[in-house]
Amino acid sequence: MDETILAEKEAMLESIRSDVADFGKERRDLIPILQMIQERHAYLSPEAIKTVAEHLDIPTCEVFGVATFYNQFRFHPPGRHPIKVCLGTACHVRAGDIILENFERKLGIRDGETTSDKEFSIERVACVGCCALAPVALVGETVHGKMAPSKVEGLLLRIQIEKEKAERERREEEEK
Ligand code: FES
Repeated sequence: MDETILAEKEAMLESIRSDVADFGKERRDLIPILQMIQERHAYLSPEAIKTVAEHLDIPTCEVFGVATFYNQFRFHPPGRHPIKVCLGTACHVRAGDIILENFERKLGIRDGETTSDKEFSIERVACVGCCALAPVALVGETVHGKMAPSKVEGLLLRIQIEKEKAERERREEEEK
């Protein structure tokens, strides 16, 4: 593994260990601890789960079992372009599930996963509060309303083109 990534992981774990130490050691502390880790680090790594299990003195599989029971927890770091597909009622009845499937197929990952180049992650979410625009998908903070399964490819292509443009501009800037 790349040394920088390894150092980042170690620093994250160190910070998790220190934050977890501030919590109680009762089973009722489990969900608040998991929420705190997800809020600060965006996902629960296997090492984070092990740290929580050690703190509460319960089996790792029990922590993992509880975390997977709730939809709110992620087990992979979000991509640089996190995609959220709304599956609240208004979006679901307008083919939200097919839009999600299309993103999954085009990117070769499933809901909750991140592409190996860390560019994209996909997550299903409940109502994001703009039902009048249903069906809705978010890329980062940008809301894409009136989505359709056929728009998925174009949206991903646009992100790719914008990324290439930004890289070109950055290179040109460096060459000046
Ligand atoms: S159900 Fe999707 S925005 Fe409300």
